Amino acid sequence: MKVYHVRNILDMGTGTGILAISLQSVNTINPNFNANIFASDIDQNALISAKRNEKLNGLSEKITFIKSNLFNSFPESLKGKFDIIIFNPPYLPSIEKEDILRSEESDLSWDGGIKGFEIFLKFLDQVKKFMNFEHTSFIYYISSSKTDLKELDRKISEHRFKNEELDKKHIFFEDIILNRLTLKTS
Ligand SMILES: C[S@@+](CC[C@H](N)C(=O)[O-])C[C@H]1O[C@@H](n2cnc3c(N)ncnc32)[C@H](O)[C@@H]1O
Repeated sequence: MKVYHVRNILDMGTGTGILAISLQSVNTINPNFNANIFASDIDQNALISAKRNEKLNGLSEKITFIKSNLFNSFPESLKGKFDIIIFNPPYLPSIEKEDILRSEESDLSWDGGIKGFEIFLKFLDQVKKFMNFEHTSFIYYISSSKTDLKELDRKISEHRFKNEELDKKHIFFEDIILNRLTLKTS
């Protein structure tokens, strides 16, 4: 896909907004790249901080922010619209309630469920409706070696996506992996 074909990009689980803001910055320096950037998060505080960071980066009100649990509150008008979706999901397996490190406020940012990829699989259940099928659309996401990657691969395949591992970096206690999904054609 040529860069000027990219019309709409979604940053799911935007957090501080770092990825959406970086993409919006590319919009301002590359005349061939003129995509609408959308950013969503389940956490109201994350959205407040992302909007503040957008302003601090001189990009006020360029990004469309949506408060939503995955795609649940997305408007109908965004169905079939996204050429690229990025999701750095909460991807670590849950830890026990009584663990000292666990605090309810911060859970959403890292806690991907018992296996670590439950949130991501719910995302896969919903995402196809929002992808643009006029051409190949891409999903970029992060996974971790702390989860059962073989099982994740199987689930991804059951959802009829092809997974490509693009990059991998060992940080602290895990390999963090950048992946790209496209829909299988047959
Ligand atoms: C690992 S952080 C990524 C933050 C940011 N995108 C980044 O790359 O630094 C995961 C983000 O997903 C959000 N999140 C968790 N569950 C979500 C859900 N069900 N729907 C939307 N966002 C969710 C969290 O609030 C958090 O901001």
